[in-house]
Amino acid sequence: MPANTVVDANRDRHWMQRALQLAASGEGYAEPNPMVGCVLVKDGHRIGEGYHKRFGGPHAEVEALRSLPSIADAESATAYVTLEPCCHFGKTPPCSQALIDAKVSRVVIAMQDPFPKVDGGGLKALRDHGIEITVGVLRDEAEQLNAPYLKRVQKGLPWTIAKWAMTIDGRVATVDGESQWISGPQSRVHVHRLRARVDAILAGMGTVLADDPMLNARLVDDDGKPLTPPRVANRLIFSRGRLPPRDSKLVCTAKEIPTFLFTSPFVDPDERAWLEQAGLVCDAENDSIEGVLRKCADGLHGHRPATNVMVEGGPNLMASLIGSQPEDCLIDEIHAYLGPKIFGGATAPGPILGSGIESLAVAPQFRLIMIDKFDDDARLIYRRQSE
Ligand SMILES: NC(=O)c1ccc[n+]([C@@H]2O[C@H](COP(=O)([O-])OP(=O)(O)OC[C@H]3O[C@@H](n4cnc5c(N)ncnc54)[C@H](OP(=O)(O)O)[C@@H]3O)[C@@H](O)[C@H]2O)c1
Repeated sequence: MPANTVVDANRDRHWMQRALQLAASGEGYAEPNPMVGCVLVKDGHRIGEGYHKRFGGPHAEVEALRSLPSIADAESATAYVTLEPCCHFGKTPPCSQALIDAKVSRVVIAMQDPFPKVDGGGLKALRDHGIEITVGVLRDEAEQLNAPYLKRVQKGLPWTIAKWAMTIDGRVATVDGESQWISGPQSRVHVHRLRARVDAILAGMGTVLADDPMLNARLVDDDGKPLTPPRVANRLIFSRGRLPPRDSKLVCTAKEIPTFLFTSPFVDPDERAWLEQAGLVCDAENDSIEGVLRKCADGLHGHRPATNVMVEGGPNLMASLIGSQPEDCLIDEIHAYLGPKIFGGATAPGPILGSGIESLAVAPQFRLIMIDKFDDDARLIYRRQSE
């Protein structure tokens, strides 16, 4: 490869890296839109940059153009964008047109947008106006960043993150069912941060009865003052018959935090009516968990489409999400917290019960993407290896 071509490719990767960094700042705010970043470069210097800061707000390209002292500065510049610029009128006008109007001469794009209203249309609009295009710079990184968005658009399912805290010997509760707390305060801060950026939190009735959880994000600043989370997750509780106690935290806060109970049509109608007047939405349509996740991706009962959901267990609900064959596994990412304790005991559960997978050959496979140390805890983040 000629030396100049190598230099150009390195330069493209350098600026795209910055655009990806910017894009990631939108996490928790941009969804259900993708996270997108844009850097404007002229004569080897960055002249402007921006990212999609929140759903409904200006897109990254527009933010970058607005960061310029004058729009005329964009003439002949190169725009580095982490996702194909849009070409349709949504909540904002098309970004491909904004780049055309600004007279940029080249657009470098990490990946095409599979969203049906775009899907190559942005590239075509730029090309039709004589703009030079390069597609695929840091494509893998861009796909990893927007994996939840891609899953929703391409498969109609949200990105599903299973989180659990377990002892060094792999137990999530003692033989008596106690589990609070296995991990330490620092780990729990990170769990609250995760809750603060997902659209829904799932739990089974066993966990509701054992732990009486709130399943909400409680963020505080360095002085302990409460912070507003980027979004409030819907709480989704699964049961085949048991109902939550009237004085449980979930029921007492159901008017403030949307709470859905997926249960059987045969539960006591009077108790169900009482729970509904207390604010719970009872859904007795007997959908599978996958069916419920599909409804979430579409927008559950008029709520915004869910891009990320988090499963807080326990081990029987987790089993329903794993299934017995790799294609049944609904979990895309695992956040496993390892706390510095051992419980032992043949009946102390691990994170996943159920009947388990049938053989090693069909075990769902994951890739380790991050290890963190929080005091004496370890957090392991795994992502499902694509088939
Ligand atoms: N360390 C951790 O990270 C962690 C996290 C969560 C829980 N835990 C511990 O786990 C224990 C509770 O375990 P668990 O397995 O009983 O809790 P669970 O999985 O939260 O609840 C199980 C119950 O959920 C319902 N359920 C499960 N799958 C379902 C499906 N596919 N459709 C509809 N309903 C479904 C059923 O409720 P019905 O029986 O009412 O039909 C089932 O009995 C507690 O000791 C708790 O402290 C630990």
